[in-house]
Amino acid sequence: MNNKPVRHFLTLTDFTPVELISLIGRAIQLKAMWKRGETHEPLHLRTLAMIFEKSSTRTRVSFEAGMTQLGGHSMFLSPNDTQLGRGEPIEDSARVISRMVDVVMIRTFEQEKVELFAANSRVPVINALTDKFHPCQLLADMMTWIEQRGLPNGKTVAWIGDGNNMCHSWMNAAMLFGFHLNVACPEGYDPDGDVISATAGHVTFFRDPSAAAKGADVVVTDTWASMGQEAEKKIRETAFAGYQVTTDMMQLATPDALFMHCLPAYRGMEVSAEVMDGTQSVVWDEAENRLHAQKALLEVLLCGFPEGTSEAA
Ligand code: CP
Ligand code: NVA
Repeated sequence: MNNKPVRHFLTLTDFTPVELISLIGRAIQLKAMWKRGETHEPLHLRTLAMIFEKSSTRTRVSFEAGMTQLGGHSMFLSPNDTQLGRGEPIEDSARVISRMVDVVMIRTFEQEKVELFAANSRVPVINALTDKFHPCQLLADMMTWIEQRGLPNGKTVAWIGDGNNMCHSWMNAAMLFGFHLNVACPEGYDPDGDVISATAGHVTFFRDPSAAAKGADVVVTDTWASMGQEAEKKIRETAFAGYQVTTDMMQLATPDALFMHCLPAYRGMEVSAEVMDGTQSVVWDEAENRLHAQKALLEVLLCGFPEGTSEAA
């Protein structure tokens, strides 16, 4: 036990730009170490509780495999099998769970819920997607971009589609990593006003997706109907017509532009099959990097940033 205050990762803005770059550097190191077959188990006897109130493939598999690789253990908790689903207050659940495990990961609907859990937790809490943000995905996305093209300072990303949780996290990333974000959403599907205000100067808004994609170094999109919006699927398909990332749209970007998507992707909706499966697409690297970026995240939350990282921020 040490007396350092507990750090949570509820949005990308919980870390400074220096900490984020340090974390991504560490993720790249951990990936190389794992591929060389090196054993690195700093989380021996540590437990991660994983609370999922929404579906997941990548997030669950990457956190669970990540804890195994770091020498620890993970525990999958769903509302159906715990008292969370029977109305035990989130504050009480946080007090109890955090007395037994070393770190908690939550995927849920309201951002306020992860904040409330964190406020009552003795151990670090990680946001593994809410309706508002998906910061873990951005760690993997920034890692992928940096691996492929170096530091993103001064570059441009085009976000095409819904002003959703992923869009909000890309807006935060633009501010923290020093690139510019062009956002093209149909009317009625803009990002939230508080995120627009917080990231002012780092983001430009368009209605025309082609104008947003012009000259971009990365083109990124996401599903048109996020988890919880299943009933709006048909209405959304109509509203987002014209916002599909196609080969023609990629040709407006820089010649070596990357295509990114957090997955799961719906070919023929937000992205054409040609782009999704084409040579500019780095979507499988993004998915793989979830594992390594989150191993670095778990390590810094439980063992601390390397000496000097926070002070230098
Ligand atoms: N990108 C992502 O979070 O995927 P899952 O929903 O499968 O976890
Ligand atoms: N915006 C999507 C991301 C899935 C990883 C959702 O919230 O469902």
